[in-house]
Amino acid sequence: MPEIRRLPSALVNRIAAGEVVERPAAALKELVENAIDAGARRIGVVLADGGLQRIEVVDDGCGMGPEAMALALERHATSKLPDALIGPDGAIELVTTLGFRGEALPSIASVARLTIESREQGASEGWRRVVDHGALLADEPAALPPGTRVRVEELFAKVPARRKFLRSARSEYAACLDVVRRLAMARPDVAFTLETLGDGTKRTVLNLQADEELATRVARIIAHELKDNSVAIELERDTPHGVMRLTGVAGLPTWNRGVADHQYLFVNGRPVKDRLLVGAVRGAYADMLARDRHAVLALFLDLPPQDVDVNVHPAKTEVRFRDSAGVRGFIVSGLRQALATGDRRSAQGPDRGAMARWQAEPIMEQGDLLPSRLREGAGVGMSQAPLWPQQAHPNHDTRPGPGAGGEREGLLLREAALAWSQPQGRAEEAAPVPAEAQAYPLGIARGQVANTYIVAEAADGLVLVDQHAAHERLVLERLRAAGADESVRRSQALLVPDVVEMDEVDCDRLEDAAGGLARYGLVIERFGPSAMLVRAVPSAIAKADTAKLLTDLADDIAKHGKQEDSGALLLAERLELVLATMACHGSVRAGRVLSVAEMNALLREMEATPRSGQCNHGRPTWVKLSMEDVEKLFGRH
Ligand SMILES: Nc1ncnc2c1ncn2[C@@H]1O[C@H](COP(=O)(O)OP(=O)(O)OP(=O)(O)O)[C@@H](O)[C@H]1O
Ligand SMILES: [Mg+2]
Repeated sequence: MPEIRRLPSALVNRIAAGEVVERPAAALKELVENAIDAGARRIGVVLADGGLQRIEVVDDGCGMGPEAMALALERHATSKLPDALIGPDGAIELVTTLGFRGEALPSIASVARLTIESREQGASEGWRRVVDHGALLADEPAALPPGTRVRVEELFAKVPARRKFLRSARSEYAACLDVVRRLAMARPDVAFTLETLGDGTKRTVLNLQADEELATRVARIIAHELKDNSVAIELERDTPHGVMRLTGVAGLPTWNRGVADHQYLFVNGRPVKDRLLVGAVRGAYADMLARDRHAVLALFLDLPPQDVDVNVHPAKTEVRFRDSAGVRGFIVSGLRQALATGDRRSAQGPDRGAMARWQAEPIMEQGDLLPSRLREGAGVGMSQAPLWPQQAHPNHDTRPGPGAGGEREGLLLREAALAWSQPQGRAEEAAPVPAEAQAYPLGIARGQVANTYIVAEAADGLVLVDQHAAHERLVLERLRAAGADESVRRSQALLVPDVVEMDEVDCDRLEDAAGGLARYGLVIERFGPSAMLVRAVPSAIAKADTAKLLTDLADDIAKHGKQEDSGALLLAERLELVLATMACHGSVRAGRVLSVAEMNALLREMEATPRSGQCNHGRPTWVKLSMEDVEKLFGRH
């Protein structure tokens, strides 16, 4: 029988370190969390070489005496377990500090050179302890102000197996920055600085004041513009153990990003990257964003400690909820509600670039009858701006990238571009405006441009509406309302059912979804191995081409079914997304002439419909040029 032996403690520590500190950002996270737990009001972080060479965290918290410091470097020694929790019944979930295991410092000390200097508040001097890969190098007095300074150097220098897995200084730095951002967001009451050292120069990356408002802190970390492009989230729900609360800032769907980096999620004050929460956010925005775009937000979920276990992941970034479906539903419905009401603002004014293009239009020279944009080589103004149709999709950070809307979009844009090549503006004769029109936020239709955009006059500005995007959205909301309300007549039966031939796999997919689709008024059934029978279509899209509709739906179901990267979508959400595809089939195309009555009807319906400010892919359906902006353009301001 092979002999069973206990591992030497240095090896135990090193194994634990592999889990707790797999890269510099993880060590940094532990150090900053310790500073927060120590009650610091100011936390300073310095990184050299993305943290690979050095990580330093300075705080003005409670500090430690020499004995405490020695103990802090032992495994499973912590000052954070309240007496009530020690013993067989101790409930670990009642811990309110970020740390609780007494694991971080000894782990780091076993795979790096760790220097801790600390001075207790009120003590006359400080103390220093240096441990190099587990070996004590110094234990001596040190001069420093009250608080603690921890330095980690040469992480994994003597652990080649781990060092090998580290990435470039640049990507380690990015991960460190992310850690500081998340913790700083969780604690707007604490001041944070982040400095980097590289090539002998020091650079201040973050400098956040103490006691900031949450919204201010969030905007300072994400982007200044977030303030004007977000809604505040504030809601509560009772649970068996107390109250569940969701607060924070949610970016409007039109202000989206190509990566999900700017989703900051917190559970009971702890930054997490939890699949359930990420999936809930995705579900909430699902039909308002193209698939490859991501919402920007900071969400703080607080719930009774009994309802969540934070001790399921070595770096504490994942949690487990007692009632995960309840939490998910709370977040999805909360976000959707907030976005529905915040929707009036989702169409922002034109961005600065667009304004600049207007303003730069040079005054025509005398005798020069060609507009400047048609003149060759004109040095300034519109000539610098790309001509339509490129302009339709400026490569702007907040807009979907090329191809986001798929081929259909591209086609529509080409149609629109064609329309633009011949002037097609139509204006209505000025009719007296009824008094109630003053109150219409989207104003009164005045004409149509390129058979694609509605021009309307509102009390406070000029409104441009993308008729296709807007109508698509309205149809979607109508379909959805029909699905939610049993009393609404949802569908129009076809006199002769349509037979649509399709491949067998697609038929299988549609057959599976048939029950859900029927709820929204699309009644289909299997018709032999490779065909579907369409018996009724939703009234909202009565004129749709059924064959194309079914093919697109099958494709969509296939796509969403596979979307497992950030939490698979629930069936109900998948159906919602499929609705977006249906909506597209039933909506007014770009390039269709609309009467003034039709235009006004569209505007009124938009005003009355929640979430109508963005199309199903997250682009605005309308923009407003305020009177002030118009006056600026003419130098009247
Ligand atoms: N910046 C600091 N200021 C004051 N005390 C500190 C500081 N950092 C660590 N300590 C003390 O050292 C102890 C050990 O820290 P360590 O991070 O290893 O464990 P922990 O924070 O208790 O738990 P966890 O492993 O979950 O982080 C802490 O409990 C705390 O008492
Ligand atoms: Mg800790």
